[in-house]
Amino acid sequence: MTGIIITDEARHWQQVAHKVAEEVVRPLAAKHDAAQEYPAAVRQAYIDNGLLGVWIPKEYGGHGAGIVALCLVIEELSRACGATGVAYAVNALGSFPIIVGGTEEQKSRWLPQIANGEKMIAFCLSEKFAGSDAAGMRCQARLDGDDYVINGEKKWTTNGGVASIYTVFTVTDPKSKSRRISGLVVEEGTPGFKIAKVEDKMGIRAVPVVETHFEDCRVPKENLLGGKPGLGFKHAMGTLDLARPGVAAQGLGLAQGALEYAVTYAMRRKQFGQNLASMGVIQDMLALMATKVEAARGLVYRAATAVDTGDKASVNRLAAMSKSFATDVAMEVTTNAVQVFGGYGYMKDYPIEKYMRDAKITQIYEGTNQIQRLVIARNLIKEASKFDYLNNYIPTESYNAYNSVTEESLDSEGVSA
Ligand code: CAA
Repeated sequence: MTGIIITDEARHWQQVAHKVAEEVVRPLAAKHDAAQEYPAAVRQAYIDNGLLGVWIPKEYGGHGAGIVALCLVIEELSRACGATGVAYAVNALGSFPIIVGGTEEQKSRWLPQIANGEKMIAFCLSEKFAGSDAAGMRCQARLDGDDYVINGEKKWTTNGGVASIYTVFTVTDPKSKSRRISGLVVEEGTPGFKIAKVEDKMGIRAVPVVETHFEDCRVPKENLLGGKPGLGFKHAMGTLDLARPGVAAQGLGLAQGALEYAVTYAMRRKQFGQNLASMGVIQDMLALMATKVEAARGLVYRAATAVDTGDKASVNRLAAMSKSFATDVAMEVTTNAVQVFGGYGYMKDYPIEKYMRDAKITQIYEGTNQIQRLVIARNLIKEASKFDYLNNYIPTESYNAYNSVTEESLDSEGVSA
């Protein structure tokens, strides 16, 4: 079992992200939230500071700093603005299918452009009728000569319209059960590909979430991820295992940021002749918030370390645990931070209500927290035989008592005699 490993390099990227968050992200957060527009200055800051190469392997132009480093960056950005955290993180999500499943040629072609910030990338998996049930997708790609022709729609594509590259999961073999889906890379400007509805959202308003539509959209078969059809679902699931610690880090950053605001406000706000921070009821709230943030932090770094150390047996389970736990903590802590601010917390003049709005989606996207718990439970059940020896310690009397009940031993009202 691996614990938590944070390298000096990861700490370096955390410091870089902290500086970007405080100098560029936080001052712009409210403005871009209100206008629901992507902050170009923030994107430039990612590029100028090399942040878009953090998770991309060195051989493809990145820094190869790993998933712990990625999570530390996302946490720092989200601490200042949740929308910025996801706007950044979604580049990792979009590029993971190429990292997980791409051929050498595909990795060399697309990853360097993402690492240097020349191109941003998005991930198209969900559809109107296929959210949690990702395998139930309908968007199809048919091989026609040397091209795949895509028809259908994708829903909730984060960074849509800002990104230039899209990893799109499509049905290439409708009759197959296990090899039904394939990933294709679609570049901006491909005829038949268009950004349709731009969503009006509760939170993460500075990052666009859109529908992407494909109408006889032709992409060369060289864009088929892995070079073979039918690998798409595994690529998508493998991607989510790598990306979910990042959503967890987004939740962690939001919770940490909201806690910091709550403490600062509680020190300043006076009621009944004393500041809120000196009141036991408020101290109790702040203490619980801080404890949950720290517990979430441990789980997020642990899941990310499992990825970096190649602990394949634990990644699926820990990614789901960190995602569901840290984002539930984010919702609870941001809601309580609004409570500490009282009436002012509910108003948009104060920065805190945005944290609560930004937190909500983290419990939903990249797999609802209910789906995460399904994944965790499946892992537990799969490994349950490890505990078979405990059967020796579980008394069997109750089974015997039940089994000894026969029809003859029941009275006329069905009660055991
Ligand atoms: N890695 C590799 N392969 C995996 C895998 C993993 N983590 N999980 C499953 N698979 C494989 C299985 O081994 C199986 O392979 P075989 O057919 O060869 O046996 C195959 O995939 C099917 O697996 P399941 O039977 O477990 O599949 P399922 O249909 O029951 O679904 C699920 C599993 C966990 C519910 C999955 O559908 C899921 O994660 N759903 C949530 C979808 C999701 O997270 N969407 C997020 C959209 S992205 C987004 O939100 C981004 C954004 O905007 C920011």
